[in-house]
Amino acid sequence: MARARIGIIVGTRGRGSNMVALHEASLRGEPFTIAVVLAPSENAPAVAEARTRGLRVEIVPPGDNEGSRMVAALGDVDYVCLAGFLRLLPSEVLHAFPDRVLNIHPALLPKFGGKGMYGLHVHQAVLGAGETESGCTVHRVTERYDEGDILLQLRCPVMPDDTPETLAARVLALEHQAYAAALRGLVERTGS
Ligand code: GRF
Repeated sequence: MARARIGIIVGTRGRGSNMVALHEASLRGEPFTIAVVLAPSENAPAVAEARTRGLRVEIVPPGDNEGSRMVAALGDVDYVCLAGFLRLLPSEVLHAFPDRVLNIHPALLPKFGGKGMYGLHVHQAVLGAGETESGCTVHRVTERYDEGDILLQLRCPVMPDDTPETLAARVLALEHQAYAAALRGLVERTGS
């Protein structure tokens, strides 16, 4: 089976830990390789890490024609993985890679998704709702926040003494398994 080529899009503030987890998974022999990492700015924390790892980095600043510039930078990748990209993705990217743009969200969608639901806001909302379980969701990206087919969810308990930070750390550890597992499933089902 050919290994799928992945383009990862990180955000301005993204740490890049999901990018790192995907790269490590590809090095362990998962059926995909990281073809390119797109970032909005050279200052994005993930950029230095990507360069250290020898990954190809393309800086695509926001602005006019952002979507078509992203599509050009992504080239012939098989899948696009958002990893810390918090804005709505330009529709040109969705049209160029139909059903092949994925995102990871730090909660069990459809709960705790939507505009403004990112980072610690998500975990504060989970704790505020008294949930006993949380987790992460890998889903296809549409033109609306956190909608689209769910490909994989991993679950963890919410502990009585959790803070948003402790819950975030437990969920992040799951995220690092989930993205690679979801991609593996897709590649095994579709052959690329
Ligand atoms: C993750 O929590 C992910 O669920 C969300 O953005 C965060 C990115 O973290 N979409 P990192 O940059 O991959 O560490």
